[in-house]
Amino acid sequence: MELLKEAIRKRGSVLSSGVLKVDQFLNHQVDTNLMSAIGEEFARLFVDEHVTKVVTIESSGIAPSFMCAHSLQVPLIFARKKKSVTMDKENVYSSRVYSFTKKEYSEVTVSKDWLCPGDRVLIIDDFLANGQAATGLTQIVEEAGATVAGIGIVIEKSFQDGRALLEGKGYRIESLARISSLEGNKVQFVEESAH
Ligand code: G4P
Ligand code: NA
Ligand code: NA
Repeated sequence: MELLKEAIRKRGSVLSSGVLKVDQFLNHQVDTNLMSAIGEEFARLFVDEHVTKVVTIESSGIAPSFMCAHSLQVPLIFARKKKSVTMDKENVYSSRVYSFTKKEYSEVTVSKDWLCPGDRVLIIDDFLANGQAATGLTQIVEEAGATVAGIGIVIEKSFQDGRALLEGKGYRIESLARISSLEGNKVQFVEESAH
């Protein structure tokens, strides 16, 4: 997605740790026009998958998934990483997710009220690195007896293992920007073949 790649080039920065900082439009300040375009692009890519729910993970997945769910006219559910006082501990699907970036585990939960067998779920997230967050979401969807209709990622770090892990499980993944390298503090995108 050219608009997104331009935003990454012009408004993103590479941290010394090999992490792409996009706080200017995605992870802190949010560019709502860009999020709308991203959401509509996801909706276009997955329009034939008969999606009944969009599932993301708080907090940074919410902005890009909102307009996708709106465009597909289905509910958006965000999995929680923090305990909610209103959520009954017995009534949740949960998955333990390890973050290689943060070197810590977190418990990701979705109330059983919002996913049911028969749902076709589109999973959306802002970043795909090692694929642990997305894998946790697929486990929750499958625990509910629902089907993963696809996985939409805003920014894929293609030099990490996430895509291989998820493709190995047979999921369809669409990433709007694929980064092949952040070496030398420079963003390099995966070459796209003309089609
Ligand atoms: P994984 O799920 O693909 O295995 O990724 P990982 O655990 O390594 O990622 C942990 C957190 O760091 C996630 O956010 C993820 O979106 C984010 N992240 C990973 N690589 C990058 C990067 O290069 N740049 C940025 N900006 N973020 C990255 P999170 O902890 O869930 O936080 P949030 O959703 O509350 O923002
Ligand atoms: Na994030
Ligand atoms: Na995230």
